[in-house]
Amino acid sequence: MPEKSAAVAEKFSGRAAQVCIMPGCGGAFGLNERVYVCPKCGGPLEIECRAPEGVSAGELRKRWESRLASLEPRDRSGVWRYRELLPFDDTVKCVTLFEGNTPIYDAPRSAQYSGLAALRLKHQGCNPTGSFKDTGMTAAVTQAVTLGARTVVCASTGNTAASLAAYAARAGLQAAILLPRGQITASKLAQSMDYGAAVFELEGNFDDCMRLIQELGDEPSIYVANSINPFRIEGQKTVAFEMMAQCEWRVPDQVVVPGGNMGNSSALGKGFEEMLAIGLIDRLPKLNIVQAEGTAPLATLFASLDLKSSADASRLPETALKAVEHPKTLATAIKIGAPVSWRKSLRAVLRSNGQIIAVSEQEIADAKAMIGRDGVGCEPASATTVAGIRRLVAAGHIRRDENVIAVLTGHVLKDPDYVSHYHRGTLALDAGDGSTPVKIAGTFANVPQRVAATKAALLENLDKRR
Ligand code: F0G
Repeated sequence: MPEKSAAVAEKFSGRAAQVCIMPGCGGAFGLNERVYVCPKCGGPLEIECRAPEGVSAGELRKRWESRLASLEPRDRSGVWRYRELLPFDDTVKCVTLFEGNTPIYDAPRSAQYSGLAALRLKHQGCNPTGSFKDTGMTAAVTQAVTLGARTVVCASTGNTAASLAAYAARAGLQAAILLPRGQITASKLAQSMDYGAAVFELEGNFDDCMRLIQELGDEPSIYVANSINPFRIEGQKTVAFEMMAQCEWRVPDQVVVPGGNMGNSSALGKGFEEMLAIGLIDRLPKLNIVQAEGTAPLATLFASLDLKSSADASRLPETALKAVEHPKTLATAIKIGAPVSWRKSLRAVLRSNGQIIAVSEQEIADAKAMIGRDGVGCEPASATTVAGIRRLVAAGHIRRDENVIAVLTGHVLKDPDYVSHYHRGTLALDAGDGSTPVKIAGTFANVPQRVAATKAALLENLDKRR
């Protein structure tokens, strides 16, 4: 960790402090100060965590590996297993659903489709509530309990809400969830209802809900659990640790993630950088973010950067993000026009020499079907990764023989309507502005067949399909 200014050092309680990421600001805050953005300059905060003194990288790896065989709840969680690098005391009472521990799959059909020799999928949809949000929520809700909050709140396109509702229920906290009405899948909404959260459906889009959340954050009894909250990012960064442990500490060349509010990419970038700093890995994988074309503000900004000059200094260009006012995509999870964590994720991409791109609705839908053919189900937002890899290979940013991992963020059952419409050839993007809906072709459609209820009819049908 670099030398700290006296102001920052003073704020370190135990091993960690909350620090403003804006170059030259130097804002630093204790872990128990309830701040979500820097009170000095309004910039984003992140937690700086010192690795425990006198513990080598090799010792850390050994400890983490030995916990895989333990039955202690903290060891069984794929987040708390890595607690040496988390900003919590050893005595903290974790709110856990045994999140993490998600598989990495080989995906030969998706690899071939993308133009790669091999491709692996890290499936974060295999978390307790079906999305990657759980790895962050265990940390954020644990911190809410530590701070004595009564109510935890979030704005959401569905998955954050489901996750917060579940963890709040475990902790016995009230959860309040702000959703853009009519823009959340039925499955995600059902989860929040089932976990007992107060669900508010607001007129407007996700970005409107997010603005309201920032106002609610001023209330002393309320704790904000969106990824603007740096504790969320701390939990989510452990996905990078788990990924490396699963790869036997051989660093992949490229990691590819979807981009929405940009918490996930920020967290993965932070996880890899921390591992590099303490010698757990010897280089960074390139971190690539893929957005949906109809709502791709960061991809647009990235395309406009002069990478040579912005690669200098802090690698945080002094540019402003131009929000997309009317986001359009069927990948509702990432239907976000003004991502709050864009600075952190842009910094992580620049530091690792990755790319930020956008893909079309048709590309997302076809990539999703191809992932399905590998026997791996994901929700549409997750499929931006494979669609993006295909583009990045075609453009020469990823070589055919590189070691690539795509992070799938949500489970296929999060949006069964989308799947059904794609395979029946009825999927269409309705912009909601009176214009004609844009049809998505069922390129790899697999339509259910009506057959007579006889063995002969079934065998004949199967024969035809062979
Ligand atoms: N994939 C899925 C399935 C998501 O639910 C989200 C975000 C993302 C990707 C994008 O991740 O925001 O960290 O860049 N969903 C949030 C929500 C916004 O409210 O559930 P991000």
